[in-house]
Amino acid sequence: MKKLILMLCLITANVIAAPDVVSTKNIAPSDAAIASASKLATEAGLKIIKEGGNAFDAAVTVATVLAVAEPYNSGLGGGGFLLLYRAKDKTYSFIDAREVAPATAAANLYLDSRGNPIDGATLNGPLAAAIPGEVAGMVYLEKNYGKLSLEKTLQPAIDIANKGFNVDKLYQEAAQRRLAALLASPAAAQLFLHDGLVPAVGYVIKQPELAKVLSLIVKEGNAGFYHGPIAKKMVTGVKEAGGIWQLKDLKNYKVIVRKPLIRVYHNAKLIVAPPPSAGGIALITMLNIASGYDFLTEKKVNRAHILTEAMRRAFYDRSQHLGDPNYTNIPTEQLTSDAHAREASKTLSKEKATASVSLGEGHVGEGTHTTHFSILDKEGNRVAATLSLNYSFGSGFVPQGTGVLLNDQMDDFSINLGGENLYGLVGHQSNMVAPGKRPLSSMSPTFVETKDKVAILGTPGGSRIISMVLLAIIDFMDGNRPLSWVTLPRFHHQFMPDEIQYEKDAFNNDQVQALQQKGHKMRMVDNPYGNMQAILWDKKNNKVYAASDPRGNGSAQVLNE
Ligand code: DON
Repeated sequence: MKKLILMLCLITANVIAAPDVVSTKNIAPSDAAIASASKLATEAGLKIIKEGGNAFDAAVTVATVLAVAEPYNSGLGGGGFLLLYRAKDKTYSFIDAREVAPATAAANLYLDSRGNPIDGATLNGPLAAAIPGEVAGMVYLEKNYGKLSLEKTLQPAIDIANKGFNVDKLYQEAAQRRLAALLASPAAAQLFLHDGLVPAVGYVIKQPELAKVLSLIVKEGNAGFYHGPIAKKMVTGVKEAGGIWQLKDLKNYKVIVRKPLIRVYHNAKLIVAPPPSAGGIALITMLNIASGYDFLTEKKVNRAHILTEAMRRAFYDRSQHLGDPNYTNIPTEQLTSDAHAREASKTLSKEKATASVSLGEGHVGEGTHTTHFSILDKEGNRVAATLSLNYSFGSGFVPQGTGVLLNDQMDDFSINLGGENLYGLVGHQSNMVAPGKRPLSSMSPTFVETKDKVAILGTPGGSRIISMVLLAIIDFMDGNRPLSWVTLPRFHHQFMPDEIQYEKDAFNNDQVQALQQKGHKMRMVDNPYGNMQAILWDKKNNKVYAASDPRGNGSAQVLNE
């Protein structure tokens, strides 16, 4: 540990654009592993691997089982990002299966005649739903990366949709939170509630219509969802309930295959999410700023102070510059440069908190809905995927006859300048609603590599995703393993509101006081947050470790065979 710190102090370079300076031994992992938010999903994915599938086949299975068995977090009516590494040709890739705004969506869609946001319009019901990308993402992944077929990889989800799964406490909490939205949609209430009430623990949720949609996707690929009878039913249902989807919105949906951002930070190669995720740029900016301060050698309070100041500045940048790269010119190189970190650090004092308002106008805001899974197979292929409906049970709306629960990802757009979304993030021009545009996201599926180690990680948690991943990367660099990354008490700062949000065990009383003395407003959050799923391949002893966040009820398993 001391040696690592010393080494890190001697190297002065910040995060640099040199993807290949980290050598990796050419060996294959001893074991495959999967960490996901659901035991059913992890086990189904491992079975696919045992039956000859690779990490990508397993990802299709895990994602679709999650869509069925964790319907409040992700699903066919949502979208997400998949970060991939294919061992055969040593390539990284980022599948952007993010939802897009419908063609008739305008910047004032959610404003009343006085220009004020209409309460709940971006969160509840079909107007809140963007055009889903998850199905296209799965079809793309299976076709271009898998060894098996959709027939094989979608079968576990079809079986669970038909046979049903049992309601647990997490399901109950999510359904309670979204009771009003679910009750407003007769098809959703029938699927996810019991006589209009939150079902009891053990109650069986069956989704036969969703099973049929999955079977159609097996038969017809994208056409089974984006064209034909399901597309028609979704559009009809959305329109009848006040939404604005058209058939052409579904027909036009395409995944975008992007290059992940790759930078080297000290001795570690970071492979992170590019826009329309804010995650990668923010992580690099935060590490760049923090590395000016030998923060790894600092005691807890000083370390937390420096990281907070780095978070504050990276979230300020998010609010000013980030959005869909197809609509907004994003200065990625500049924001991730050393020069930018130096400039941003000019106002940073080691002694005193910077007031966020002094950085500029607040245009920024984002819990434990959404889902993440990590996979490694014995060929060395990797998947880090974060998939979402946004809020619990998304918009709460299911178009009749489809069984497909729609997202409320439109809330991730800036609805009015300076206004806040569900996560308290402040809005800016670069992220205003426009037809066909992808809303800015915080989802940050991530790989970190050193000479001897490979980390695969990610988590749900809205805007806090980014700070959770930052703390996990630093814990990895401290030499710790996945159980530590996922368990670690967390803290977060997102520029606005100007406060450190922290979990109960993140700081003791003395540390809270010391941070207050530096000028930080401290707010302990009511509940723990995040549901991180992580894998570490230690090449030195060729061992694979996996861990699932104790805050959730997921499952991490290493397949030793
Ligand atoms: O894309 C985003 O940033 C959000 N829609 C993710 C939502 C999320 O993680 C919810 N979990 N609390």
